[in-house]
Amino acid sequence: MTRIVLPTAMALIGLGTLAIAHTGVSNPAVLARMESMTETQDNTKVLGAMVKGERDFDVMAARAAAAEIARHAKQTPDLFRIKEMDPKTEALPAIWEDFDDFTAKSKSLEDVATSLAASLETEDQLRAGLGQIGAACKACHKSYRE
Ligand code: HEC
Repeated sequence: MTRIVLPTAMALIGLGTLAIAHTGVSNPAVLARMESMTETQDNTKVLGAMVKGERDFDVMAARAAAAEIARHAKQTPDLFRIKEMDPKTEALPAIWEDFDDFTAKSKSLEDVATSLAASLETEDQLRAGLGQIGAACKACHKSYRE
């Protein structure tokens, strides 16, 4: 799959430009959680591209992307439950010091994405929803990702 870098969309949700470093990850559990995050990001970019007008607004495609974000967020606690490490990981040990909070932050993302997938009709709702999604990513990354 071609990875399209959309700096504007990513800057919009405050993630900055990310160097994806899957190469050389030897722990399959770490790879699985990274891949889930990458798919989350790919779906977030779909929403970002629509908000930026780089892609036509399409309610069904936007709802589908939001549903995928929710699906991955629901899986996040299980993907991280066991403290798996790898030299390439960006996960901070704090995750396992307060796993309840980590779970709550996954749930916040799941909730905003689920509600967007169910109720999205207009571009304004998409813009607001993407803002909430971006804030939920950021809230977790700030505490739990290098
Ligand atoms: C509950 C916490 C949490 C939430 C919510 C969260 N992330 Fe993450 N994310 C992490 C952690 C922890 C890592 C580091 C994983 C690792 O390197 O092992 C990560 C890593 C990533 C990565 C890098 C993956 C890689 O290949 O190394 C991307 C991209 C990413 N997240 C995007 C997102 C986006 C976009 C959202 C919101 C739509 C989001 N994340 C929401 C915790 C979270």
